[in-house]
This record gives sequence, structure tokens and C-alpha cells, in this order.
Amino acid sequence: MNPLNHVAIIMDGNGRWGLKNENSRNAGHKAGLKTVEKIIKESIKNNVKFLTLFAFSTENWKRPKKEISFLFNLLEDFLKNKIDDLNKQNIKLKIIGIKNFSTRLNKLLNISEKKTSKNTKIQINLALNYGSKSELVNAFKNLIKNNDKINEKNLSKHLQTKNIPDPDILIRTGDKKRLSNFLLWQLAYSEIFFEKKLWPDFNENDYNKIIKKFRSIKRNFGKI
Ligand code: IPE
Ligand code: IPE
Ligand code: MG
Repeated sequence: MNPLNHVAIIMDGNGRWGLKNENSRNAGHKAGLKTVEKIIKESIKNNVKFLTLFAFSTENWKRPKKEISFLFNLLEDFLKNKIDDLNKQNIKLKIIGIKNFSTRLNKLLNISEKKTSKNTKIQINLALNYGSKSELVNAFKNLIKNNDKINEKNLSKHLQTKNIPDPDILIRTGDKKRLSNFLLWQLAYSEIFFEKKLWPDFNENDYNKIIKKFRSIKRNFGKI
């Protein structure tokens, strides 16, 4: 049975779910947040140590301003209401991506990270304004600036995911088979699961089925 340390998820399909069910993309984002809570709980039950959630990409700035501000307001409300609860559950929150939001949101994100930084049950990496290509370019720039030797180990140290093991599983919901600039380096050997369901419809049962399947896969890492 494969050990499972780190699950990464591209939470896609909120907009389509919202349009279909409530004639509003934003309603889908709201519903998607419920799935986030379910999957955090289920990850803890499965003793997953790192859960990385793709919430907003560097490319998502191309969306209408209204949708973007809805998303960030949703995040702000979520953190304000839930951070103490997450902290009580011994959950550590880390933001990966560039924090260049409003001063208010940047501050809230920093406070939330600091408050939960010593927690040990599970680490949630929330990918916000995250893009893998720019992460890699910055990592190379830093390697060169520090005059570090260019090798895999040193490059990994300059990524936002430093000190986090690579994902064992990548799940993408929403019936699209692409990576959308997510963790291109870190996913080199992950087991990838593309899920037809839209993120708000994804549930504990779907998640556990994937974990069960993962457990039984023969992971070769180049060996036989
Ligand atoms: C993913 O859902 C969430 C974010 C990118 C914030 P989408 O909003 O991309 O949903 P679809 O793909 O349009 O249905
Ligand atoms: C990927 O979803 C980003 C997140 C889930 C945050 P998108 O919906 O933005 O991806 P594309 O643009 O369809 O590839
Ligand atoms: Mg999408």
C-alpha cells in the first residue's frame, strides 16, 4: 500500500455548477467552499499531512472584475469566520503564490498563517495568485542571485513549496484534462486523477475512492 502524504487539488467547475443550478457563477464559488470544508475534514481522517488547494491562478486575473472581487470577499469572510476553528483543529495554513492583494486581505492572510504556524495535524497550502511558470522563473533568478549551484535540490529550495514533499496525488475536478500552470515541477511523479464531477458536487465518497485506487497503484519512479 502506498503511503499518502500530500494531496493537491485543482478545484475546477464552480462557475459551471453555479450557472447550471442557480444561474450565477458566483453561487458556484460559494457552493465550492462547502466542498473545501468537507475535503479538509476527510483529509484529516485519512491522515493526509499536506493538502494543496488551487484557489486562484495568475491567469484568473483575466476574469471579470466582479467575479474576482466576489472570490476574494468570499475568502476574506471564510478566514474571518473560520480561522479560529481551523486553529483549534490544529490545522496549519500556508499561502503559496504572490500575496499582492488589498492591504486588508494581505494582512488577514499573514495573520492567519502566523496564528496557525505551529499546528501539526495537517498543512493546508492555499494556492492564491499562484502560477508555476513564474514560480520557476523566480526560483532560477534567486539561485543565480545567491550564486547557488544549479541543481534539482537547490531549485526546490527556492520554490514556494520548499520543505513540502511533492504531491502523491493530483486531483482535477470539472472534466478538463489539463494542469493550468499548477505545480509543474512538483507534479513530476504524482498520480493524476481527472474527475468528471464539478467541484461543488465532489464529495467524501469520490475522494475516498480516489485514495483507495491510489493506494493500490504500483508506483515505479523509473524502476520496474
Ligand atoms: C474554479 O472554478 C475556481 C476558480 C478558478 C476560482 P471555475 O470558476 O473555473 O469554474 P468553471 O471551470 O468556469 O466551471
Ligand atoms: C484552474 O482553473 C485554476 C483554479 C482552479 C484556481 P481554471 O478554470 O482557471 O483553468 P482553465 O483556465 O480552464 O485552464
Ligand atoms: Mg474553470
